[in-house]
Amino acid sequence: MDLPPALLGAIAAARRPVVLSGAGMSAESGVPTFRDALDGLWSRYRPEELATPEAFAADPGLVWRWYRWRRDLVAEAKPNPGHRALVDLAGLAPGLRIITQNVDGLHQDAGSTEVIELHGNLFADICSRDRAPVSVSGETAGDEPPACPRCGAPVRPGVVWFGEFLPEAAFAEARALAAGCDLFLSIGTSSLVSPAADLAWLAMNADATIVEINPDRTPLTPHCDHVVTGPSGMVLPALVDGLRELHTTGD
Ligand code: OAD
Repeated sequence: MDLPPALLGAIAAARRPVVLSGAGMSAESGVPTFRDALDGLWSRYRPEELATPEAFAADPGLVWRWYRWRRDLVAEAKPNPGHRALVDLAGLAPGLRIITQNVDGLHQDAGSTEVIELHGNLFADICSRDRAPVSVSGETAGDEPPACPRCGAPVRPGVVWFGEFLPEAAFAEARALAAGCDLFLSIGTSSLVSPAADLAWLAMNADATIVEINPDRTPLTPHCDHVVTGPSGMVLPALVDGLRELHTTGD
């Protein structure tokens, strides 16, 4: 896949590049995106119906079983060439930081470090009363959520549900990075869900170069400096190859 020299030049010149990744980044690892219909047993539900505090309060077991299904699915998933290319990209652009909306941990599994998880992590267990981390490994396979060892409240996954605030420290760091970057790569996100989707506008207001990698158009597409239409698992390795060529030919 040939990428425009202007895009490669912009990435090579960046000193403070930031990535915001979304579910599309993990699509090629077999993890359904939010806009995909849920598979099989869960096809009659929409994430918006299950990933909420109200749904958990109404039926903790149902929500727990959905997350158990997602954990089992993600536990089998492996980083794809897109995740691995971002590790290579960090080697070519040492200032690169990754902010992700994904909860699957695949960036970290591929070797990316200091990943900012805006929406938490699927495999974290927290108390549903005070949201503090709990250790209940070995008790999570049941049909009902285990009880918090401290207070007895049901344990829940450490992810952000619809209508909940993002983890404060993670979101503050993400905002600072977006406002201070000189290149913003929006990869595999529909750019529909705020406040994560607002990060691109912070970068734009800081005159950063905005790049989108996505097979489809999003609300961000018309505002980008560069748009690469394609799957991240194909585009990102091509981008790394192009940058390496730049480095060797010294163009
Ligand atoms: P979405 O499911 O909204 O969007 C996935 C995006 O990835 C779409 O724009 C697809 O076109 C694109 N896509 C699909 N396959 C791709 C591929 N192979 N390579 C690149 N892009 C691909 O997922 P998000 O944008 O991540 O929030 O959704 C944001 C948030 O909405 C999620 O984090 C979740 C959900 O509500 C919470 O859970 C709080």
